[in-house]
Amino acid sequence: MTEAIIIDGKEFSSNLRNKIAEDVKAFKKERSIVPGLAVVLVGEDPASRIYVRKKEEMTTAVGMNSLSYRLDANASQQELLDLIGTLNHDPAVHGILVQLPLPKHIDTPTILEAIDPDKDVDGFHVVNAGRLAIGTPSLVPCTPAGCMMLLEHTLGSLKGKNALVIGRSTIVGRPMAQLLLAADCTVTIAHRHTKNLEELCQQADIVVAAVGIPHFVKASWLKPGAVVIDVGINRVPVEDETAKAAGKTRIVGDVDFVEAAKVASAITPVPGGVGPMTIACLLNNTVQAARNLTSAS
Ligand code: GUN
Repeated sequence: MTEAIIIDGKEFSSNLRNKIAEDVKAFKKERSIVPGLAVVLVGEDPASRIYVRKKEEMTTAVGMNSLSYRLDANASQQELLDLIGTLNHDPAVHGILVQLPLPKHIDTPTILEAIDPDKDVDGFHVVNAGRLAIGTPSLVPCTPAGCMMLLEHTLGSLKGKNALVIGRSTIVGRPMAQLLLAADCTVTIAHRHTKNLEELCQQADIVVAAVGIPHFVKASWLKPGAVVIDVGINRVPVEDETAKAAGKTRIVGDVDFVEAAKVASAITPVPGGVGPMTIACLLNNTVQAARNLTSAS
């Protein structure tokens, strides 16, 4: 039995960040402007603090300016809207990211729609979602953009492939389906009410799993030779009883990786697959936004 190719997102994203650093250098030389990314964190969510710190470190590492904004967990919606208004008008800011999830008293869609679509490096604004849906994408959500890069690197052309996206979130599932459609795939979106998931999976040349359930996709569901992209990041207790008792956890994906790797032709691991691509694509979007904003003026 041949084992699948393990798609190395860590290496791919490292190469992409090196390329972005070159782009930033060229951009600075041509325009005497340093691209700037503003990252806003509201509250103290531990996971969000880690993600935000990583984003800020990597922004600086590619030579861009990182501007950090921290608001108290009980900051009002208006305070956050005022900050976004200021950042929208700041010429040193080319990208704005408000880390999600936001505290419950803040309405997330209102916040996302307050961000200038041309600075929306997350690609979450309705204008950017709309542009993607009508086939004129501008700033594309980072995780699906990263998945597409890995798929194209693995398969070359995706034309005519049957692609199954499991999950319909606005951050991953929906934009992922739009990108696959734009790449001429025949796309199916499955979700919690889908009745014949196994059957759909068995017909798919490409499976993108973004459901947030550990080891949800089984090897027996896969068509031999399928390419599997696992977007899941699920924290589960470790198997070792002593370590488990000590509260030790590990990260696993939405796909039963060990068994699936015996059926698929290529598969992303968790960690080290899709995860590292998200920040690299965020940096890519920020350079893109800086280019768009400074050539328009
Ligand atoms: N929280 C988890 N993932 C993301 C992301 O990609 N962007 C933002 N803004 N918040 C997140």
